[in-house]
Formats: sequence, structure tokens, C-alpha cells
Amino acid sequence: MQESGLKPILWKEGTLTLLDQRVLPGVTSFLIAKTMEDCIFAIREMVVRGAPAIAITGAFGIALYLKGLTAKPSLSELKKKLDELLESRPTAVNLRLAIEGFLARFPETEYNTFRLEDLQRGAEKFALFMLEEDLNNNLALSKNALSLFPKNPSSLNIITHCNTGALATAGHGTALGVIRSLRDAGHSLTVYADETRPYLQGARLTAWELKEEGIPAYLITDNMAGWIMSSRKIDAVIVGADRIASNGDTANKIGTYPLAIVAKHHGVPFYVAATEKSMDFRIQDGSQIPIEMRKEEEVTAFGFLRDENGKPFLSEGIIAPKGMPALNPSFDVTPASLITGIITERGIISPVTKSNLEKVFAA
Ligand code: MRU
Repeated sequence: MQESGLKPILWKEGTLTLLDQRVLPGVTSFLIAKTMEDCIFAIREMVVRGAPAIAITGAFGIALYLKGLTAKPSLSELKKKLDELLESRPTAVNLRLAIEGFLARFPETEYNTFRLEDLQRGAEKFALFMLEEDLNNNLALSKNALSLFPKNPSSLNIITHCNTGALATAGHGTALGVIRSLRDAGHSLTVYADETRPYLQGARLTAWELKEEGIPAYLITDNMAGWIMSSRKIDAVIVGADRIASNGDTANKIGTYPLAIVAKHHGVPFYVAATEKSMDFRIQDGSQIPIEMRKEEEVTAFGFLRDENGKPFLSEGIIAPKGMPALNPSFDVTPASLITGIITERGIISPVTKSNLEKVFAA
């Protein structure tokens, strides 16, 4: 299976280079992150986005923080920094799991025995491990997804939402990784990529990845999916996840929930592609998932994207009366009952129930 060449996160000799996803596809520019604060900025401002990529950037943020110290931080100092990092974006659970994964390497009861160099080396090793693990998990889940589709090369039409590709992960991608792998398996694909209002990850990023890969695709506005499902053969909707509760309720980019309802109405299988790092067994259901609320400006104007000097990247593009209040929840929750299956690196979970999730992910 091929690995995509797109690298949103690059760590070389202690330097973190992030592809600036705010200005794609028009401009290819990079942000060099030198401190944890740089990483927090990059996550909050969406230089890097997508749940797995956010978590990996956070892990490198920890490595950069420790690298910048000359004396070992007390455990409470370290935890305070990690809390600041955790606050950068609230919905995806991956970042929290990354922070906990790092802390687990330095148990509280033994913290005194570790030297600064141990923490520094451990943090870098952990972040590099996360990069590799995410790529391997994406490749594994994409391979597992092949069993859901005909064995022989077929003509497949797939709808996807937001960006879940190489740009959102360590490489290959989750939902878009499945699409890549279906193409690599010889299927003849037509992908319908939702533009994903208001931040336009589908138009700016997924469309870009699909073009780069030469995968036949149409860009559609989010409200076209119903018409497409009622007038064309659609084999599946495949999306990613930011957090999956114990019962399978799944938070993903705003617009995923209505897409799932339309898919159910038309009898189109609706799949979530995600790794174990999206699972939150601490919460019972989707009502406990915090939903990030973003700036109104992202809804009232098309010109919300800024360049590195804070200048609008596009024209101002105001599309609403001045002073018009807008709501901008960045994610919604799709109930498990609307999800045909969750495609994971450990296999396919279907039907999506608490016990099936526990069976697959029980350590
Ligand atoms: O706000 P974003 O761009 O970080 O939202 C991204 C998504 O919702 C993705 O679908 C999700 O993180 C999965 S990426 C493999």
C-alpha cells in the first residue's frame, strides 16, 4: 500500500516544521515551531488541524518545551504547561490521550528519579513514536476497510466530509486513507468531497489532496449530498472522527450529523474511519463531548483566512449584514444508531454498540 507524500508535520534535528494549512491551496508556506507556545498557536489557529495531526504536534510541543529548559521542571510546573496545551482545542480526544501517554512514561511516584535529559529524550522519542504509530494505524485501518467493498475492481462512488487525509494525520489519512487504499486496490473511484462550511477543509484541503493524487472527484457544497444520494448510485459515505464515546456516538466536523441522516434515509452505508486514539471510554455518550465554538467571522465572511502578517488571504468577502450574530459550532455528534460501522486498525466494528467497541479495544 502506498504512503502519501504529503507531510504536514516534519521533525528534523530538533526542529518542527508545520505546513501552514490556513493558506492552502493558494500558498505553500511553513511555520517553524520553536516552542510549545508556537505549537499551541499552530493548533489553535489551525496552521495544523485534524485530530491526529493536532495530537502529534502537541507531543512535539512537549518535546520543544523540555528542550528549551536548563533545569528540570517540578511535576506541577510540567502539568501546568500540559494543561495549557490541552486547552488549545477541546473536541478531539487525541491530544488528551497524547498528553496522558507522555505522562505515563514518567510515573508520578518515580518522577524524582528522572533527570531533565530523560524527560527531553523521552518526549522526543514519544512524539516520533506517535508519528510512526499514526501512519501505521492509518495504513492498517485502510486495509481493513477493503473487506467492506467488492473484491473485484469495481466502480465506486464515495462521499466524504472535511479533510481526513495526509494533511490531518501523520500520513495516508483515515477516511481519505480508505479512499486512497480503495484506489490502490484497483477500484475505479468517483469521490464527492463536501466543501465543509464554514472553514472549507473539504474545498481547500481534501480537493487539493484528491487532485494531487489524481483521484477523480467532484467538489460539492454540503447541501448537495441529499440530491446526489437521491439521483446517483452512492456506495458509501466515509468520514473521520474527533472523539468517539463509549456507546459509539461520534463527534466529527460540523455537517457530519445531517450527512448521516441523509445517508440513512437513502440506505447508503455510513462509515466512520478512526484509530483507537479517537476513542473516549471515559464518557458514556455523545452528549458529554465538548463542542468547540469558533469565531463568528468564519461564518459571516469568506475572508477569514489570514496570512502570516494577519492580512486577509482572500478578499474580505463579507456575506452577512454587519453585526449579524452567527453560530459557529465546529463539530457535531452523530448518534451511533446512524453509523453502519467504525473502521479501525483492529477491524470493523459493526453494529456500533458499546459491547462491540469494548470487544475490539479491550487491551
Ligand atoms: O477542525 P478540524 O479541521 O481540525 O476538523 C477535522 C475533522 O473533523 C476530521 O474529520 C477529524 O479530525 C478526523 S482527521 C483524521
